[in-house]
Amino acid sequence: MPLLKPVVLITGAASGIGHATALAFAHAGYRVVITDINENNGLKVVKEIVSLGSEAIFVQADHSKEIDNARVVDTTLKAFGRLDAAVNNAGVEGSPDLKIEQQTEANFRHTLSVNLGGVLWAMKYEIPALLKSGGGCIVNLSSVAGSIGMEGMAAYVASKHAVEGLTKVAALENAKRGIRVNAVAPGAIQTDMIDRFVGKGESKGRSDLAALHPMDRIGRADEVAQAILFLCSPASSFITGHILPVDGGWLAK
Ligand SMILES: NC(=O)c1ccc[n+]([C@@H]2O[C@H](COP(=O)([O-])OP(=O)(O)OC[C@H]3O[C@@H](n4cnc5c(N)ncnc54)[C@H](O)[C@@H]3O)[C@@H](O)[C@H]2O)c1
Repeated sequence: MPLLKPVVLITGAASGIGHATALAFAHAGYRVVITDINENNGLKVVKEIVSLGSEAIFVQADHSKEIDNARVVDTTLKAFGRLDAAVNNAGVEGSPDLKIEQQTEANFRHTLSVNLGGVLWAMKYEIPALLKSGGGCIVNLSSVAGSIGMEGMAAYVASKHAVEGLTKVAALENAKRGIRVNAVAPGAIQTDMIDRFVGKGESKGRSDLAALHPMDRIGRADEVAQAILFLCSPASSFITGHILPVDGGWLAK
């Protein structure tokens, strides 16, 4: 741990898993950089963290754009002087229920540019900043869709398979440089993204989704946040290039 409070950068932290992760790192003593395309919600998360007595700033960014990723890291270094951990979480589900022969170039480009491009461009600028701070950790957001197929989700599934490959490359390139790079692979987690799939409230769609998990429930965002915190802590000091499912047993089937 540095003498000054460590700094974490969390992309897409205005909602869901990113929001829960921002709170978990703040509780763990980190200064937190929140980014999101949604400024209103991002500023609310900053307010929440500051009200808990921790430090946080918001940087509006579209992570599909390389230049925004450069600006986010630059702003982080100007505000806090260092970077110790990065969580590349911003993501979109794309249009659901599109069979391959119904896919559109717009859906493919958008989903891949945020979910895959967003992780690549983020790491391009995070790695030099982490090196300057003497090393650190990166956690990327994959999904159970990073290792299994899901009908109607071609672009999302392809993006998450690719994020796992990218995570392994980044882990290998940085293993001797003091930077560990891992990914988490959540099952269905209660966030706005899941509400967009199955609607809010109880429904057959929601219980069918829960039943895909051997634990027979949808997960909570804070359960993913704790796994991410572990992968950024000294407790995981010999773990790199790993994809950690947080899925109630889904991938064990
Ligand atoms: N919720 C789940 O069941 C689940 C499961 C597996 C993986 N994931 C992954 O977890 C991550 C977070 O998902 P969530 O469920 O919290 O979703 P969410 O929709 O609640 O949050 C995603 C956040 O990313 C932001 N975002 C979207 N596009 C962006 C862009 N171009 N630039 C910057 N910010 C952008 C959104 O504004 C939003 O605040 C995603 O990568 C998602 O694929 C979620």
